Amino acid sequence: MKIKSADFELSSPDLAHCPRWHLPEFAFIGRSNVGKSSLVNALTERRELAMVSSVPGKTKLLNFFRINDRWCLVDLPGYGYAKVAQQDKREFNLAVNDYIAGRDLLDCVFVLIDSRIPPQGIDLAFLEWLNTADVDFALIFTKADKQSSAKTQQAVTTFLAAIAPIIPETPPVFISSAHTKAGRMEILQFIADRIATAR
Ligand code: GTP
Ligand code: MG
Repeated sequence: MKIKSADFELSSPDLAHCPRWHLPEFAFIGRSNVGKSSLVNALTERRELAMVSSVPGKTKLLNFFRINDRWCLVDLPGYGYAKVAQQDKREFNLAVNDYIAGRDLLDCVFVLIDSRIPPQGIDLAFLEWLNTADVDFALIFTKADKQSSAKTQQAVTTFLAAIAPIIPETPPVFISSAHTKAGRMEILQFIADRIATAR
């Protein structure tokens, strides 16, 4: 898929303020700092479309980007960031959960996992919830440029073994790097295929 246009549409604090349109949406979620916004920029080849920061908790709203006027990419706030005020944290999680469970236009959720660290309880808990929410999802192992491909493969194997008891069907898996653009074509092809079959 060629990205001809990538335009910021709006930021929403909750499900009620999401765009009123009919584009299929593909959302990116994961722990704070896992690389969601960086991946959005890498996929679209726009350096500053989504805001990237080394400080966790940068993305605080649901951010919608219109791609080729045909589909939509959603950069979601990260979960599991302890320093966000307790009150805010609840609101973020509620808004994200409402969106994922209640958005009819949502086609697929990409759950980003840091390829360098062992399975985290919060990722497993989120995936368990996602599975009960009956939403299609895929896994993306990020920051693959930071280690050897053998180590990344090992991380994927370990993670899939950890989710096997809670998720009966193995989801599609991608390995990515926002720096080298590894995984970009595969993820875009996956989205293109889903859009084509949803017609
Ligand atoms: P929040 O919005 O805070 O939840 O974070 P996020 O998941 O959007 O992460 P973000 O894209 O802001 O990236 C966090 C940090 O990781 C930044 O310093 C990025 O430069 C770095 N980073 C993201 N992706 C990659 C990658 O593929 N490789 C490397 N080496 N660093 C990355
Ligand atoms: Mg972000």
